[in-house]
Amino acid sequence: MSNQHSPVGILDSGIGGFSVVKQVQRLLPEETVLYFGDGAHIPYGNHPQEAIVNMARYMFRFMEEREVKALLVACNTISCVLDRCADVVSCPVFSAVQAGAEAAARLEAGKVGVISTVFTHNSRIYPQKIQERSPRKVVVLSCGCPDLARLVEHSLGDPAGMAEVEENLRQELDHMVLEDRVECCVLGCTHYPLVADSIHRLYPGLPLIDPAEEMARALKEYLRREGLGNPRTKPGGLTVHTTGSVVEYALRARQVGLERVTGVEYYPPMDIL
Ligand code: DGL
Repeated sequence: MSNQHSPVGILDSGIGGFSVVKQVQRLLPEETVLYFGDGAHIPYGNHPQEAIVNMARYMFRFMEEREVKALLVACNTISCVLDRCADVVSCPVFSAVQAGAEAAARLEAGKVGVISTVFTHNSRIYPQKIQERSPRKVVVLSCGCPDLARLVEHSLGDPAGMAEVEENLRQELDHMVLEDRVECCVLGCTHYPLVADSIHRLYPGLPLIDPAEEMARALKEYLRREGLGNPRTKPGGLTVHTTGSVVEYALRARQVGLERVTGVEYYPPMDIL
């Protein structure tokens, strides 16, 4: 049974969810955070739906066993299949897509761009949710990027890798930004905010919507409303669990600027064969 002192769970296929951890640490420093990144199976966005559901349920079970008091699904791709995973946990679940769509609708732009994994793009979940929430007619252009999440996962801090990321960004975004002239762009994959500086440099002045900020705000509001905020006055720690390389995750956590990392631990991956 979870209580005020229980951790907040955050999960993703890889290190993308670090963008959400960062916002949670900024807004709710007293909370203890438990992170799970399925480094062995990234990228999720190129897997079939059945595999994504099974891998997500595996991570949800991990969080349920550790009695998290709230679970942030810091993966847009998993957020697309949330109705097939949420029954695994007894705590409330926060969706990256829900957060991103709400933030985009609030901007009241006439033409919104969304970049995401191929799976999220094919689901049409973003156009649908943004249009449902927008008070006026809004055009939503969506672009699925098959390689970007994987490139970001392995390229942070490496100049050659980052050049590849920027080349890929141009390939995917030039048309949407320079020709279709979207007024803002939703970063519909949690890996993309980790390279927001590159996107700003390539497309100066283009407002970017990062669902992570909205997710952290929604979590804060929920904990306050339910009286579930951690009452301690000193900051809480962050434990990272990964089915991938512990060394790489520890390095990425430092590069992203995560604070109070109390441990980076290996967890065996689900067998998907
Ligand atoms: N970071 C994930 C998302 O937000 C997915 C990246 C991937 O595994 O394809 O969709």
